[in-house]
Amino acid sequence: MRNPVMLSAGVLGISHRTLRRVYEAGAGAVVTKSIGAEPRKGFKNPTLVDLGVGVLNAMGLPNPGVKEFVKEVEALKRDGVCVIASVYGFRAEEYAQVAGELCDAGADAVELNYSCPHVSQVGLIGQNPQLVAEVTETVKHSVSKPVYVKLTPNVTDIASVAKAAEEAGADAITAINTVRAMAIDIEFQRPVLSAVYGGLSGPAIKPIALRAVYEIYEAVEIPVIGVGGITSWRDAVEFFLAGASAIQVGTAVYLKGLSIFRQITQGLKRYLERKGCSTIEEIVGKAHKHSSSPK
Ligand code: FUM
Repeated sequence: MRNPVMLSAGVLGISHRTLRRVYEAGAGAVVTKSIGAEPRKGFKNPTLVDLGVGVLNAMGLPNPGVKEFVKEVEALKRDGVCVIASVYGFRAEEYAQVAGELCDAGADAVELNYSCPHVSQVGLIGQNPQLVAEVTETVKHSVSKPVYVKLTPNVTDIASVAKAAEEAGADAITAINTVRAMAIDIEFQRPVLSAVYGGLSGPAIKPIALRAVYEIYEAVEIPVIGVGGITSWRDAVEFFLAGASAIQVGTAVYLKGLSIFRQITQGLKRYLERKGCSTIEEIVGKAHKHSSSPK
């Protein structure tokens, strides 16, 4: 990657044109919308609501299916874009098949989505360390590109799930996906989202994501990719200090536009200069040296 600030899965991620625009706006890499074995329409509207403190969505994993999507990945690679393919499935073999086809199309890495909080078979994988290990191992046996595992915060002990992924061969952990949440319309007196529950993203979840990255960094040796509510270079610095080797930005694209990528990379550069550092690696995990939580 040319810089450590990626687009996260789920935002502008379904066509090569929008993903290329994000890359041209300065992202170090782009993560696609999660792709499955078959086309999927997703849930009925309403699927997204802006709550002010964050955004609640339950899209239902809409995507054109892998056979159609390989064309988008091929086009991105022709344009020189660094692309990470997000993959979901309902069985280990399905993850492996989709990951394999997207890697053959040129994806630089795959990110396994075990963490969608409102498509239960997918979200449940991420809540069970044994299933996480089984799917990760199956995918690792069938692709030769790096495999990232994206975890859900909707568990008691995210570090133990990350550890299971690492032991199964994951090359990096992405943390976190959205936080399971809901909203109720007081006039209609019913849940706002057609799926009732959804995933909360944006500023409200940043402290949760930061805590997860901090805990995972202490549990695993592989790189951690931090995501969740990052809307400024200052937020980004916090994630690097907590232990992230790279970060992803999603909801901030909706809140602040595509200029967010250059705002963050330029802010990071100035921060590193001010601290006398020449590489981002010099600050990764640095907050751990100055802390010990009471036992
Ligand atoms: O509903 C959705 O498509 C969201 C997916 C996710 O959060 O992984």
